[in-house]
Amino acid sequence: MYLKRFLFAAALTLAFAPGSFSQQQKTKGVGYLIQKNITCTRGAVVSAHPLASMVGLDILKQGGNAVDAAIATQLALAVVYPGAGNIGGGGFMVAHLKDGRNICIDYREKAPAKASRDMYLDKDGNVQTNLSQYGHLASGVPGTVAGIFSQVKYAKLPFSKLIQPAIDLAENGFAITAAQASSFNSNKKEFLEQNKTPVAFVKETEWKVGDILIQKELANTLKRIRDFGQKGFYEGETAAFIVAEMQKGNGIISLDDLKNYEAKERPACDFSYKGYQVISMPLPSSGGVILQQMLKMIEGRNIAAMKFQTARSVQLMTEVERRAYADRAEFLGDPDFVKVPLKTLVSESYLKERMKDYEPGKAGNSKITVAGAIKESEETTHFSVIDNEGNAVAITTTLNDSYGSHTVVAGAGFILNNEMDDFSAKPGVPNMYGALGNDKNAIAPAKRMLSSMTPTIVLKKGKPYLVVGTPGGTTIPTSVFQTLVNILEFNMSAVDAVNKPKFHHQWSPDRLDIEKDFPADVKKQLEAMGYNIKVREAIGRTEVIQISGKKIIAVGDKRGDDDARGYAPIP
Ligand code: GLY
Repeated sequence: MYLKRFLFAAALTLAFAPGSFSQQQKTKGVGYLIQKNITCTRGAVVSAHPLASMVGLDILKQGGNAVDAAIATQLALAVVYPGAGNIGGGGFMVAHLKDGRNICIDYREKAPAKASRDMYLDKDGNVQTNLSQYGHLASGVPGTVAGIFSQVKYAKLPFSKLIQPAIDLAENGFAITAAQASSFNSNKKEFLEQNKTPVAFVKETEWKVGDILIQKELANTLKRIRDFGQKGFYEGETAAFIVAEMQKGNGIISLDDLKNYEAKERPACDFSYKGYQVISMPLPSSGGVILQQMLKMIEGRNIAAMKFQTARSVQLMTEVERRAYADRAEFLGDPDFVKVPLKTLVSESYLKERMKDYEPGKAGNSKITVAGAIKESEETTHFSVIDNEGNAVAITTTLNDSYGSHTVVAGAGFILNNEMDDFSAKPGVPNMYGALGNDKNAIAPAKRMLSSMTPTIVLKKGKPYLVVGTPGGTTIPTSVFQTLVNILEFNMSAVDAVNKPKFHHQWSPDRLDIEKDFPADVKKQLEAMGYNIKVREAIGRTEVIQISGKKIIAVGDKRGDDDARGYAPIP
């Protein structure tokens, strides 16, 4: 039924929209548009998939607030964006409510009770990444459904209304995009290796754009969640399916692990930057902490005068990235388990000291610039939502890698995460993102693995000004950092701030990664300073909403199928 409604809506958009929306919209042979940006007045949703953005917009139009729209979008992403949208993974929500409260909900996966520090090491002490990254043992206890039920108290509409579009999309199917067809085809081998029963994402012939993906088992799981709430996932039939799946592949998630899972509200990472108030995700995400470190390390320097993507500005930003990521590796972990010297890490004096060895015009060195002295495929998905009541929501969720562990829970139809790889399986051995860690991020039962997800809201005079976030593993904080600097310092439009080339340095490896369209002359100048530079595939898929007076500008990243929808568009 929803598919029919969407096709109808898409047809209406095509028929009446010229002039109302961005010129970047295009048909993709699927019957709906991918709309890259929109200016509007009454609310907006930007997500990784047009159908999910449309679901969120529809909820706003039905009188839902930004949290309602976020819940519905998140559930729809679990159906239409199975590479990262999920109910088998985890995530973080950062929200600013109309009454002025800032809310952070942590629904990061947890290590199962049977997990142990050296569980991925072989008898010679080598990390077996085939176990931490693939299959049943790679999964942490999923947090997404508990997270959604922690969000419900801030919503207005009945939950049954918010989940129904996802159920309809799973049950009736939807037309996949060209990018999705290609992604299912290239993951076929892993799906076949990790699953003993047929999965919805594999078919005998090649997937093509416009093919319909139907997920009946997932629809039934979503119905159990609709009818029984959180228990419809963590107990009863769904929990039994998960545990039965675990037993097929030496997995260790138990019924008790599921029953005991709880999402947590945590105090926001809340700091000022040149008069703006930045609200971001605290630990167990490293995102907010290192975003704060990076912004504070440039705050006292006139980066605006250095101009966008000159060798000077890129070098400064690279060097603050290096220092923040060195601290990430040394000091950060789940605050419920380890002591983190947070106050010091973000203090003015400490950050000033960190920049003492910064030399303009000369590349730093990660062997010399280590963590400060204190006595510590990148598939995730982000969506941003704003309503016309003053509520703003930024949510990033993840299965970790694309399609997580590639294990689909038989009978329940959803993919389990491979988030255990975000722990440090062995000190000094990089994980799939090249991130290093130590005991602070070692595996322990019920501990949350360190994340990089950085859902962020910037307030101007106490009101939402920017809602931002991105997928991208360890590149997430640097992409959010650069997007904020582009807008707040280089006065760039939201469209350019999202789409202009990005770069990334994470201390180890000591290498500056740049996108293909990064300016060649700046690359040369940076190489002359001594930087080791690698051109890499796209960095992140940033979704931004900017609020300027009554005007809302919503932008989906050019790098994927990302899509922005707005309520009451301005022609
Ligand atoms: N799995 C990616 C992250 O949480 O950082």
